[in-house]
Amino acid sequence: MPDLTPKKPIIIAVDGPAASGKGTLARRIAAHFNYAFLDTGSLYRALAYDVLRRGEAPADASASLRAAKKLNMAMLDDPDILAALRTDAVGTAASVVAAQPETRGAILQIQRDIADTPPDGKAGAVLDGRDIGTNVCPNAAHKIFVTARAEIRAKRRWQELRQHNPQVSLEDVLADLNARDQRDSARATAPMRAARDAHLLDTSDLSIEEAFEAALALVSH
Ligand code: C5P
Repeated sequence: MPDLTPKKPIIIAVDGPAASGKGTLARRIAAHFNYAFLDTGSLYRALAYDVLRRGEAPADASASLRAAKKLNMAMLDDPDILAALRTDAVGTAASVVAAQPETRGAILQIQRDIADTPPDGKAGAVLDGRDIGTNVCPNAAHKIFVTARAEIRAKRRWQELRQHNPQVSLEDVLADLNARDQRDSARATAPMRAARDAHLLDTSDLSIEEAFEAALALVSH
């Protein structure tokens, strides 16, 4: 008798601090296996962007909850909006919004729905974020926690930001990054943390290609 039970999608959770390289890795792993890819940070960034655009304060939990309830995923397909979401100001505001339990709760299901039913009938999904392995998809088949030394992460982010803003200083980028990591790991709800069954991958001294090969080795056994 053929087994007609629907196959559960394979989920790969890629978590880690800002500018650790997790986004690039997660995207490449998804392309390699032809899985769906979800950058969960962009959801929090979209809420923060909406709150800021309305002139409301990211710390106002009712403003971000309103934004979460009417989050339009289609905006994440617009390259101009995606570029606007990548600024440091939006990243910082996103980490303030992301500390609010009700707002997190409101977008948890969006993430789980994509993991449970990846778009286009794909056989799996790669989600990158801070709490995928611990909270969003605790039963993920594979979990990687990507790290890199703070100075290295700041330098990577600085090189990226400098292309649009030559005035930006490395010291400011490092300070912002440390403040964001501190807020993300100290918050009470779903803090950034490596799951107990996650593989740690330190990309400090690896090229993108080397990091990708190392990640593939971790998910291929
Ligand atoms: O990964 P990215 O830098 O785009 O994330 C922006 C912010 O969104 C993070 O600093 C964090 O506060 C929040 N975030 C989160 N949980 C996730 C993904 C992102 O709290 N799964």
